[in-house]
Amino acid sequence: MARVGNSIIKGIEVEEVIKLLNKAYADEWLAYYQYYIEEKVVKGIMKDAAIAELQEHAADELRHADMVAQRILQLGGTPLLNPKKWFTHTNCGYEEPKDFDVLAILEDAIKGEQCAIKTYSEIIEITRNKDIVTYDIVSQILADEVEHEEDLVALQEDISEFITQIRAKD
Ligand SMILES: [Fe+2]
Ligand SMILES: [Fe+2]
Repeated sequence: MARVGNSIIKGIEVEEVIKLLNKAYADEWLAYYQYYIEEKVVKGIMKDAAIAELQEHAADELRHADMVAQRILQLGGTPLLNPKKWFTHTNCGYEEPKDFDVLAILEDAIKGEQCAIKTYSEIIEITRNKDIVTYDIVSQILADEVEHEEDLVALQEDISEFITQIRAKD
């Protein structure tokens, strides 16, 4: 544990920060798996564009899990050791893909990103002026989640537009 590193944390218990980060850690693994599997099962029009986006997001979520784990360890905590705990600690849950159509898959993914944005905004509010290092790491992740939501919404709009054009030609 970084002792001086931890001594600069003021106005919040280190244990509390570790708890918040472990919940986010559970979210990142579940988000990673959701993208991992969605990319494999997705079907329908323009699915190749969706696959490329989903693969990129999967890699980002795994990188986020790593960033969060590193910070938990730095604080003297232990990242969740058992995947069973992902489900008891998650903020955003896991949206099992039931409809493999590209638009439905994108809709599920957008919901996940919106929850991630909400969760990280809350951690930012809690750590602001208290734990600057966590605040900084979480801000970087939040910027990615905002970009993820935007990418997915833009793709969903493009695909919907394309479907409308095809139908107009019939
Ligand atoms: Fe993430
Ligand atoms: Fe994301």
